[in-house]
Amino acid sequence: MRILSIETSCDETGIALLNIEGDLDNINLKIKKELLATQFETHRPFGGVVPGLARREHEKNLPLLTKELEVKEKDVDLITVTVGPGLDPCLWTGINFVKELQAEKFSNTEVVGVNHMEGHLYSFLLSEDLESIEDIFPAIQLVVSGGHTMVVLMKSLTQWEVLGETRDDAAGEAFDKVARMLGLEYPGGPEISKFAENGDSQTVDFPRPMINSGDYDFSFSGLKTAVLYYLKDNFKEIESSDLKFDIPRDKKADISASFQKAIIDTLVSKTFRAVEEFNAKSVMVSGGVAANTLLQESLKNKSKEKNKNFFVAPARYNTDNGVMIGLAGYINFLSGNSHKIESQPNLSL
Ligand code: KG4
Ligand code: ZN
Repeated sequence: MRILSIETSCDETGIALLNIEGDLDNINLKIKKELLATQFETHRPFGGVVPGLARREHEKNLPLLTKELEVKEKDVDLITVTVGPGLDPCLWTGINFVKELQAEKFSNTEVVGVNHMEGHLYSFLLSEDLESIEDIFPAIQLVVSGGHTMVVLMKSLTQWEVLGETRDDAAGEAFDKVARMLGLEYPGGPEISKFAENGDSQTVDFPRPMINSGDYDFSFSGLKTAVLYYLKDNFKEIESSDLKFDIPRDKKADISASFQKAIIDTLVSKTFRAVEEFNAKSVMVSGGVAANTLLQESLKNKSKEKNKNFFVAPARYNTDNGVMIGLAGYINFLSGNSHKIESQPNLSL
């Protein structure tokens, strides 16, 4: 099946042309072409995503990328588009664009909606270490993005349940907010991990929130506040309204490493509690924060130690992209669980 896929839930315009064959036991994906327009430069001066600007960027990029894809109606069997969760103005831009595209050019092609989190959830299928999905379930998947932090039990490709999630800030959000306090650029996750490479993670003993709570929920707002108090106690505030501090570069590295270690310890501990409880055969990680090398290494090493498979997509498919949306759209199509595009666009997983 040839799929044209569009993702516009946040600050990346993703578009892909895929050829996917096979059934739910054996999915065979070929990426014919994929394009991604990131908006980091647009949002950087504001330190975070500005929804109105993001919508404008999507409106500008969608026609350009579609043109560049040079796709004809005869080349497409199904169109998939993200319908949520995400920023409403961004989601509607994608949905309305697809509706217009269908009316103008693809009148005989069906359009289905895709849950963005299902896109992340199925991105493990792109892992270079995955030969077949036979014998990999039950699996525990940690889904960590800018808006979500979840531990998911996958009994099969299509039977899964969320065991726990964040009660406040998502992991990526905590990375972004702490990066801002440290005066690092947006998006904060990659910046913190870069600084952390030159820092000592033993410098500050930040809390590991809810690490022993006995459930699979997370709470990262306390950790963020602990970083703030540490900064207030140790460095001079330069702009009191925007919580900026005068911090030497080497200290930024130490604080980044300590914060990163605290968040990763918590994520890894909860993931493996679930692995033990459900006797999982595999561990997976997805979402933007899955691009973090230390998180990947920690999960991979512990999986090896416990004799479990470990799967993660190549880094560029951890952050938002069109490919994962087409993949999730195909799986939902096969299992008869396709979402309607008219439905409320902020679907949760
Ligand atoms: O999945 P994603 O692209 O968008 C959402 O669905 O939210 O995730 C974006 C999040 C941002 O918070 C970003 O800071 C974080 O992923 N991120 C990282 C890294 N790369 C991206 N966090 C930690 N380490 C990274 N290397
Ligand atoms: Zn995402």
